[in-house]
Amino acid sequence: AASLFTPGPLAGRHVLITAGPTREYLDPVRFISNPSTGKMGLALAEAARGMGAKVTVVLGPVGTVDRSGYEVVDVVSAEDMAREVLARVDEVDCFIATAAVSDWKPETRAAQKVKKSEGPETLTLVRTPDVLAEASRRVSGREKRPVLVGFAAETQRVVEYARDKLERKGLDAIVANDVSAPGAGFGVDTNQVTVLTRDGKQRELSGTKREVARSILNLIQDFLPRTPS
Ligand code: CTP
Ligand code: CA
Repeated sequence: AASLFTPGPLAGRHVLITAGPTREYLDPVRFISNPSTGKMGLALAEAARGMGAKVTVVLGPVGTVDRSGYEVVDVVSAEDMAREVLARVDEVDCFIATAAVSDWKPETRAAQKVKKSEGPETLTLVRTPDVLAEASRRVSGREKRPVLVGFAAETQRVVEYARDKLERKGLDAIVANDVSAPGAGFGVDTNQVTVLTRDGKQRELSGTKREVARSILNLIQDFLPRTPS
């Protein structure tokens, strides 16, 4: 039916996106997190929808955002995010991981607010799951697997570290971001990135997050298998 079909270059495709930070609680009122606002991920969601895709965003805590036009699955921790992504990644055509997932969480979570007189003076941290790497492992070797795209926020040796992540996580593309450069990174409306692809190519993109999102999706399109028509 025509009403179910949004025309565009991503018509009939389902795109899964992680966005925002995660929170790793140490007690009911305290957590480890980062300043991600989810803007880049939501710009990608918006752009993918505009290109005709069905979009699902697994979204960490970012406050109030426009949720019209795509499915949003709210999560808090890295573990929540991993669970919701792994439940969906088999079904999608493309998975784009923009979330700033906390790499560490407190080893224990106190049931009640910890009083300052009780300590602890030091926190023991343990690793969280790598959502993107686990998703990649899950779909690897499948005949029909989604196109996998990562983001890499770096402050030095940007391209080298990003290329290493692309290979280690088995990705098709990685969007590398020098978060120490002005007009890039956390919370701002513009971005300037280098997209590295598995074919060894590299290209620079800059502009508003909306413009960068469209350019990224245009590049990703080349990795999607042709739809049977
Ligand atoms: N990522 C993820 N789950 C994690 C950590 C990262 O899904 N627990 C994803 C991010 O969403 C991003 C990519 O992996 O798409 C790279 O994230 P980044 O933090 O740059 O890389 P790490 O592998 O965590 O390495 P490091 O932080 O040590 O640079
Ligand atoms: Ca990390």
